[in-house]
This record gives sequence, C-alpha cells and structure tokens, in this order.
Amino acid sequence: MNNKIYIAPSILSADFSDMRSSMAMIEKADADWVHLDVMDGSFVPNLTFGPKFVKDLRPFSKKVFDVHLMVNHPETMVNAFADAGSDYITFHMEAAVHVHRIIQQIKDLGCKAGISIVPSTPVSAVREVLQYVDLVLVMTVNPGFGGQKLISGSLGKIAELKRIRENNLYNYFISVDGGVNRQTAPSVIEAGADILVSGSAFFNAEDPAGEVRILKGNIPV
Ligand code: DX5
Ligand code: ZN
Repeated sequence: MNNKIYIAPSILSADFSDMRSSMAMIEKADADWVHLDVMDGSFVPNLTFGPKFVKDLRPFSKKVFDVHLMVNHPETMVNAFADAGSDYITFHMEAAVHVHRIIQQIKDLGCKAGISIVPSTPVSAVREVLQYVDLVLVMTVNPGFGGQKLISGSLGKIAELKRIRENNLYNYFISVDGGVNRQTAPSVIEAGADILVSGSAFFNAEDPAGEVRILKGNIPV
C-alpha cells in the first residue's frame, strides 16, 4: 500500500436539494472519492436514499463512488447498488450473517467489497474476512448522523488493522468515518488510516479545497 491519504466527502452533510452542485464542489475541491451513506431506518435510526438516487447522480461525477450501506439484510440490496454504478460497496458486519458470501456477491458484480464495524465491535469480529476485502471502514461514531464527536477509543482499531495488513500482506484500504475534522485528522492519519470520510468538516467549510489539504495534513492549520 502507498502512503497517500484520500479524502471522501460524505454527501450526508450536503444539500439534498442540489446534489449536482455538491458533485461539482467535490470535483473543484480536488477531493478523491464520493462517500454515499445509505440508511434504512432500521439498522440505524435515520433514512437517506436508495439505488435510484445513486444511479441518477452517477453521470455527474467521475470520482470513485464509495457506498456505505447502513442497512439490515445488505445482501438484498447489493445488486441494485452495483447496477447503479457503485465502485465500492461496504456493508456492516453487525447487519449480516453470511459475511463471506456477501463479499463474494459484491465482487461477482464487479465491485470492490468493504466491511464496516461500529464503535462497539472489535476488529476480531471481522478477522476471518480481512483476507477477502478491499476496504475496512472503521466507524468512529455510532452510525446514523453526521456532525458527531469522534470516539477516540476507536483509534486503536485502525492501528490494529494496519498491523494485521502488514503482517499478512493483505490489501484493504483502511477508511475512517465519523467525527473526522482538522482537529482529529492528525491522530487518525497517525493511527494508519488511508481514507478519511468527511461530512460536516468538508461541506461546512468556507474553503472546501483548503479543508481537503488541511485534512490530508498538507498544510498546517
Ligand atoms: C454516519 C455516516 C458518516 C457521516 C460522517 O453514520 O456514516 O459518513 O456522514 O459525518 P461527519 O464527518 O460529520 O462525522
Ligand atoms: Zn459513512
């Protein structure tokens, strides 16, 4: 793995009535991926959007579409999200039983597969599938809402995932989601993250391009 840091703005914090402008904003700010939070009102206490929304947005961005499924029974939805133009499809370990099968299902559809864990789930819960995934998404807040405070106790899991990847020559990206901002980003990067998901810090920034550079650690705050 290289040491490049990618920034993935989460459109959960964008204006849902003007998503085309949000795509343009991500492009102009030179952010790397687009993070799309799918919530079902059951796995998490919030609702966002489904595959049609992703499909309709797809022509307006060339960026990697990083879909984060916060839904129960993700296996019933991955086909539609693959068809919608998702590049990465990440689902929650806590929302699935046959985790290995769903990873294969995502890959068979031609997408990259990610697994995510909430703050109360240890890395050991996904240890058996780390060899198969392209991305591990460490939630550093309880999923459902943007703008929450990062739970610093979760940072140890980033370092653990990095250690396991190095010791076993695995290939997943380590992505960190929740409460990442200019104050917390340095410790998240230091712990070993490759991808920083940023909702409120990016979309509330006066200068989103500058915020991307700050989050990456390329310019001092
Ligand atoms: C939370 C979502 C996050 C969220 C991050 O459930 O998965 O992607 O939008 O927002 P911030 O960066 O504001 O914590
Ligand atoms: Zn997310």
